[in-house]
Amino acid sequence: MHDADAINLATLPPRQLKEFLTNTVRPDDGFIPAYIFSHPVIHQLEMEKIFMTQWLFLAHESELPKVGDFVTRDLGGHSVIISRGQDNQVRIFLNMCRHRGMRLCRDDRGNEGAFHCPYHGFTYSNLGLLTGVPFQRDIYGDGFDKQNFGLIQAKVEIWAGLIFGTWSANPPSVKEFLGPMAWYLDLVVNRAEMEVTGPPQRWVVNASWKLGADNFVHDSYHTMYTHASIAKLGMVPAADYSKQGYQIDCGQGHGLNFGTPTPDFIFPQNLMDEYRSRLTSEQFSALSTMKNMIGTVFPNLSFLISATTFKGSRISNTTLRTWIPKGPGQVEVLAWVLTERNATPEWKEASLQSSMFTFSPSGIFEQDDMENFIDITANSRGALPLRDNIAFAYLAGLGRQPVEQFPWPGTAYDSKFLEHNARSFYRAWLKAVTSGGE
Ligand code: FES
Ligand SMILES: [Fe+2]
Repeated sequence: MHDADAINLATLPPRQLKEFLTNTVRPDDGFIPAYIFSHPVIHQLEMEKIFMTQWLFLAHESELPKVGDFVTRDLGGHSVIISRGQDNQVRIFLNMCRHRGMRLCRDDRGNEGAFHCPYHGFTYSNLGLLTGVPFQRDIYGDGFDKQNFGLIQAKVEIWAGLIFGTWSANPPSVKEFLGPMAWYLDLVVNRAEMEVTGPPQRWVVNASWKLGADNFVHDSYHTMYTHASIAKLGMVPAADYSKQGYQIDCGQGHGLNFGTPTPDFIFPQNLMDEYRSRLTSEQFSALSTMKNMIGTVFPNLSFLISATTFKGSRISNTTLRTWIPKGPGQVEVLAWVLTERNATPEWKEASLQSSMFTFSPSGIFEQDDMENFIDITANSRGALPLRDNIAFAYLAGLGRQPVEQFPWPGTAYDSKFLEHNARSFYRAWLKAVTSGGE
């Protein structure tokens, strides 16, 4: 780059933009440039190439137990209604009336047999059909066929209770999309019958969505310093508690850190039979040895199983979260807590409390993390990062060989203090944002 000549990404023709991205985003060498965390052109590319094409996690099935239940969420920057219709099928509707485009439903959640548009009163069934047009004959005569104006739908697939949606016309199956990650995700959401403890908490942060996804896909290194208080409070034995275990690359940008070994079983002991019956013997042995587990499904679904000493006893909590881009350098976080449906009420309550105390907008670790994400995003703005091509070091474990004959799926590295999965995440990111067009 020339002196004092910050490149203007907004005026680059698509081919040159691709070239610029390929030259500056260098996961294979361990360099990730600052500008990608806040630049408006990057945000636009991500929305188009990632969030409009990938399977995205939207809701847990236990949020929609009854016919007529619905929640509203964001799919690729568009408001959508996820509805369990009267035929018991889950569908995803664009939250847009076909008459003039008014937002049909403005509630976060509820139960409705039909949705009434606030503007002129068009009515849609919870199957997405236009069923009522006020004064239809008077106004439109015979020239209006309601069948042509049903709600626009996105593709939906439910995998182990997770409701995924996509705007892609030809997506792979969710199982195919998850690849080896499915095996680990089973341990999070399918080890027992799981349910959400309530609607997700949601909050907006002035930070890049990628920093959250990046942190969860690989970064146990920061726990030692950012979350040093966890050891001081006696919630874990030592500050480097999160070092031991495996960093596992599941391909396609998906990855996780599996903490092991554990001094004791971190899940409700009385559900042993249920775990054994739902998991394979390899999965059950993984569950038994798990100290904690954290990961990201590309692009923006992250999970965490955390076990700490809370109010004198050791308790684990299981959370899912999505990092939803709301603009360049702004993210909305949706965070769910999951518990075993058949756990005791006391266990469920303690698990929820430990989660709120640690990972929630009021949680001590969440606040530590958000400070980092906000300041990194702020630093990535302005002319200098582009002008001087400022890049960050994602070098840890570069060239390191994976564990030979690892018994579980994916490619595993011995230690969680590595940046391998982040390099894979940005490799998948680069492939996506530079895809198509030629
Ligand atoms: S915009 Fe919905 S009824 Fe007119
Ligand atoms: Fe953290």
